[in-house]
Amino acid sequence: MAGNSRSSIHGQWSSRWVFVLAATGSAVGLGNIWKFPYIAGENGGGAFVLVYLICIAVVGLPVMIAEVMLGRRGRQSPINTMKSLSQEAGASPLWQLLGWSGVLAGFLILSYYSVIAGWAINYVLEMGAGTFSGSSAGQVKAVFDELLADPLKLTLWHTLFIIATMVVVARGVRGGLEKAVTFLMPALFMLLIILLGYAMNSGAFMQGLAFLFTPDFSAITGKGVLIAMGHAFFTLSLGMGAIMIYGSYMRSEDSIARTAIMIVAADTVVALVAGMAIFPIVFANGLEPGAGPGLVFQTLPLAFGAMPGGLLFGTLFFILLFFAAWSSSISLIEPAVTWLVENRNMKRVSASIVCGIATWALGMGTVLSFNLWAEVKLFDMTFFDLLDFLTANIMLPLGGLFVAVFVGWIMSRQSKADEMATKHLFAFRAWNFLLKYITPLAVVVIFLQSTGLLAKITA
Ligand code: PFF
Repeated sequence: MAGNSRSSIHGQWSSRWVFVLAATGSAVGLGNIWKFPYIAGENGGGAFVLVYLICIAVVGLPVMIAEVMLGRRGRQSPINTMKSLSQEAGASPLWQLLGWSGVLAGFLILSYYSVIAGWAINYVLEMGAGTFSGSSAGQVKAVFDELLADPLKLTLWHTLFIIATMVVVARGVRGGLEKAVTFLMPALFMLLIILLGYAMNSGAFMQGLAFLFTPDFSAITGKGVLIAMGHAFFTLSLGMGAIMIYGSYMRSEDSIARTAIMIVAADTVVALVAGMAIFPIVFANGLEPGAGPGLVFQTLPLAFGAMPGGLLFGTLFFILLFFAAWSSSISLIEPAVTWLVENRNMKRVSASIVCGIATWALGMGTVLSFNLWAEVKLFDMTFFDLLDFLTANIMLPLGGLFVAVFVGWIMSRQSKADEMATKHLFAFRAWNFLLKYITPLAVVVIFLQSTGLLAKITA
């Protein structure tokens, strides 16, 4: 089976660089620019950032390599890939469930991801129209609060974003995904560099750096550690099949490990640069680092509104955020679309429409959770908080854990070595060791400690 010359029925990237761009496009998204700064702010800064970086290195990178490898060997939707690879390994067909949980997670994430990406679209227009020129912190916050209080506006942008996503997905691997990322990613990197230069002159650059990089371990809790680990999976698009499906379009002759390192490095750099651009502005204006999901929407317009050229750079920034979200959202739904094409005999266009409508409908729950349903809570969380917590902090780490167990313990060494085709025996062994022991242990220990069980067990 899965011989080296096979390719996916859905298509193949035209070069190694396109795979790097596409996977980086998936990884770099709202997670880096919107979520990372606000969860770092809520969880005390430096110590949280350190835990996050450790998780990226010892859990994220090995799982990234494993997922690309599984995808390329299986060359199908994550569900069918897990089915044939478990057959190849003589293991239980239940391993397919890993593919199913991935498809479900992607669908759940896209439903709220699209609503937040919609905020970015709204801010492109507000910034461009000069709404924030000379505004006070209170006025900027009022614009944000008004947006969240308006279900119609949120629905409009959410709808637009789902359509944008589905148009790309419907056009397929080469005509859609590949074309989108080869334009979006270079644009995104250029905008980010411009923005960093801008933040360096904001006045409180050093204070921002100190907040991000001086660990204060008293500021982090068990739940903070869980959030840091969950975010390592979320930001790298791991644990749900997105990277697996992108791996299935990769050419057989390209090196997996080297490519994965590039993707992880690029994603981490973007998150840190986003933090370095945002916290100086927070401190220079006496804002609250723990402001929550509104952080970038309440800090950056203030700074842009007060600076020369702010209208232009501010508008560019929110365009960047929108692009970053767009190149990620397509990978969230690609696993589901490919499964419908493979198993339900659907055309890509119809499969995209079905997925789009379903995600749109579920997304309405998130839209309403910011206004009409703001008081509807389960475990003290709104609909949006619950989806975010369930996917990023539970489903993705569990998915990653099972990827590690499958590759570390179930797949034959021969299959792995064959697909990786590595000449670096030491690196291969180190990777295998991390997947076998360290990744599962880290995920389980972090789960246990966040529930307080670890303290009870060790007491
Ligand atoms: N990695 C994306 C981000 O950081 O915004 C979010 C994401 C995309 C998560 C694709 C999971 C995924 F499969």
